[in-house]
Amino acid sequence: MPKTNPKAVIAGWGHTQFGRLEDQDTESLVLSAGRMALEHAGLPPCELEGIWLGQFEAGLDVGSFHSSLALGIDPAMRFIPATRCENACASGSAAIYAARNAIAAGEVKTALVIGVEKMTHRSTKEVAACLARAAYAKEEGNLSFPQIFAEFAKAYFAEYGDCSDALAHIAAKNHRNALDNPLAHMRKDVGFAFCNTLSEKNPVIADPLRLTDCSLVTDGAAALVLVADDMRHAFPQAVEFRAAVQVNDFLPMSRRKLTDFAGPTKAIKDACTAAGVDSKDLDFAEVHDCFTIAELLIYEAMGLAPKGQGRKAIDEGVVMADGSLPVNRSGGLKAKGHPVGATGVSMHVMAAKQLTGQAGDLQLPGAELGLVFNMGGSAVANYASILQPVA
Ligand code: COA
Repeated sequence: MPKTNPKAVIAGWGHTQFGRLEDQDTESLVLSAGRMALEHAGLPPCELEGIWLGQFEAGLDVGSFHSSLALGIDPAMRFIPATRCENACASGSAAIYAARNAIAAGEVKTALVIGVEKMTHRSTKEVAACLARAAYAKEEGNLSFPQIFAEFAKAYFAEYGDCSDALAHIAAKNHRNALDNPLAHMRKDVGFAFCNTLSEKNPVIADPLRLTDCSLVTDGAAALVLVADDMRHAFPQAVEFRAAVQVNDFLPMSRRKLTDFAGPTKAIKDACTAAGVDSKDLDFAEVHDCFTIAELLIYEAMGLAPKGQGRKAIDEGVVMADGSLPVNRSGGLKAKGHPVGATGVSMHVMAAKQLTGQAGDLQLPGAELGLVFNMGGSAVANYASILQPVA
C-alpha cells in the first residue's frame, strides 16, 4: 500500500522572483524566501523547530554546505537543526517530504522548507556539466540532460510517430501561461509557430528537441512553513497533503523502457489511489516539464490519454488554462523557470496559492484539488503530492 500520512499541513509560503538574478546569490535567495514564508505563515522564528533545504548544487555554486544559511534569517533561529536534501531536480520535494516525515514522527511540530538554486552565473556549458551529474555516469556520462531527454523523444517518436508539433504546442502553452505569473523567469508569448519552426533563435539543442522544448536555466528560491495538523486552526490558509508518494526507479536508463515512464506513472497512480481520487477529479496540476517531451509523457502517466496518445490532452484543450485540467498554469519549468533545487518547493507554493485563492492573475476558479509532480533525473526520483485546502 502506498504510504500516506497527512500529519503535516502547509501553513505559509514564500517565493522569490525567478530569473537571471545577477544581484542575488544562494544566501540572499535562501534568506529572502525563508523570511517571506515565515511572515506569510505568521510563525515567529523562535517557534521554528527544524529546517530542511532542497538544493541540487553539484558544482553549480561555490561550496555545498548551505543548510545553516537559513539561520541567518533571525538570531532566534540559532541552534535549530538544519539539513540539506539532494535528489537531483526533485531536491525541493525531497526536503518537503523529509520535513513531513519529521512532523509525522513527532520529532518537530514546525518546519521551514526552502528550495534554492543559483545557476545563471555559470555558462550554459558549465551548467550542463553540473546537471549531467544526475545521470548514471558509467553509461550516460557523456550525455547532457537535453541529450538524455532527446533519447525519450526519439524512443517516443519511433514507437508512436513524430509529434514535434505537439511538443511545440506544450511549449507555447506554458510560455503563454507565464505571462500571468509575475514571478516567472520569461514572460513572452512566443507562440506556436515560433516553437514549431527551426530558426536561428530556435535551434536544435539535442535532436529532436529544440531550444523551445527545453526548460530555462534560472536562479530562484521558494519556501514553505509546515506545521503539525493539530496546529492547523491557527493558520486560516492551511493546505493539506491528501497524498504524498515517492517512487524511485533504477538509475541506468538501460534498465528501463523509456516510453513507459514507469516511475512517474507509479508515483501519480499511487498518489491518486492513496487520496481516493481519479485524475479526472483534479482541478489543476503543476508538473515537471523539464523538457516538453516530459510533459507529454506525464499526460499519459496521469491517465489523461492512453499510451502514445498524450497529444490528445493538448490537442483537445484539456490542459490549457481554460481547459478541464489546466497543467502548469504557472508557466512550468519551461517559462516560470527551473532553478533545480527550488522547483519542487515552487510547485507546492503555486498549488497552495491556487487552493487558497491567492494565485492572483493565475487563479483558476473552483480550484480545490491539485496535483504536484516533481521529478529528479531521467524519471528516477518521482514525487507526487495531492493537495487540498484544510476543511
Ligand atoms: N527556452 C526559451 N528561450 C530560451 C531558453 C529556453 N530554454 N534558453 C534561452 N532562451 C532564450 C534567451 O532568453 C535568449 O533570448 P534573446 O536572444 O531574445 O535574449 C536566447 O534564447 C539565447 O539565450 P542563451 O542563454 O544564449 O541560450 P543558450 O543556448 O546558452 O541555452 C539552452 C539554451 C536550451 C541550452 C538552455 O536553456 C538549457 O540548457 N536548458 C536546459 C536546462 C536543463 O537541462 N535543466 C535540467 C532539466 S532536467
